[in-house]
Amino acid sequence: MVKIFLNGCSGRMGKAIAAMCKNNDDFRVVAGCDVVKSDELTFPVYENPNDCDVEFDAIIDFSNAKAVPMITQFAASSGKPFVCCTTALTDDTIAGILEASKTIPVFKSANMSYGMNVLFELVRQATKALYPESDIEIVEAHHNRKLDAPSGTALMIADVISEETDNALEYVYDRHSANKARSKNELGITSIRGGNIIGEHEVMFISDEEIVKISHSAQTRDVFGKGALTAAAFLVGKKPGYYSMQDIVAEAFK
Ligand SMILES: NC(=O)c1ccc[n+]([C@@H]2O[C@H](COP(=O)([O-])OP(=O)(O)OC[C@H]3O[C@@H](n4cnc5c(N)ncnc54)[C@H](O)[C@@H]3O)[C@@H](O)[C@H]2O)c1
Repeated sequence: MVKIFLNGCSGRMGKAIAAMCKNNDDFRVVAGCDVVKSDELTFPVYENPNDCDVEFDAIIDFSNAKAVPMITQFAASSGKPFVCCTTALTDDTIAGILEASKTIPVFKSANMSYGMNVLFELVRQATKALYPESDIEIVEAHHNRKLDAPSGTALMIADVISEETDNALEYVYDRHSANKARSKNELGITSIRGGNIIGEHEVMFISDEEIVKISHSAQTRDVFGKGALTAAAFLVGKKPGYYSMQDIVAEAFK
């Protein structure tokens, strides 16, 4: 049984994880931290993590970029494994997390979905096999409340392709203002927004004769919660260091 301290426990992801841990033999949320109180939660919730006097095994954070420096410090001082899932972190915050990873095990992935991380690996392999013969395009779709475009995950996919092509491709986000044919060194990234789409990503390798498509479709937010819980279990007992979902996926590809 892994006992979890949940930062951002009153948010959408926090509540999803709390629900997943109910009647669960492997994980229990024993305490949380949030600036907002929620009557739904059955464990003690602190506004300041340093007030927590409950024993736990690992910290999972789905909060807000501004909250991450404090929870990182708390993780380092508690000596417990730290799973950081919050996105849009500043360079300073990331530097703080890297510093903490010298003394505690830290797990950070901007996309905690196991399947999406498998997709990164498949895209890496496909790029090796199909570039430069094929043009590569990424299409992503999300709900109509999403603020950023393209999605952070689309950019992570683009970065995998970039690594495999020696940074030869230029990311092209929006073609409406460029009345010109596609050049060979473009990596097109297109965003669709509407309704309640949780997250769709498709990578297309397009040659003159055929199209190879690799796609991922998130069916529920729980996919990220499940990844975070898997990460917490993975970290318990690990040496200090900086781990990511790629470490878990690499095991599967061995
Ligand atoms: N890595 C992934 O796979 C993944 C998946 C989903 C969401 N996210 C990220 O996780 C974060 C949370 O997502 P969400 O959808 O649950 O957001 P949300 O806005 O629903 O919840 C965030 C929670 O954090 C709380 N919070 C704000 N300041 C805090 C502080 N100082 N201390 C403690 N709690 C604080 C808020 O009150 C809120 O309850 C976002 O950055 C989001 O992009 C990452």
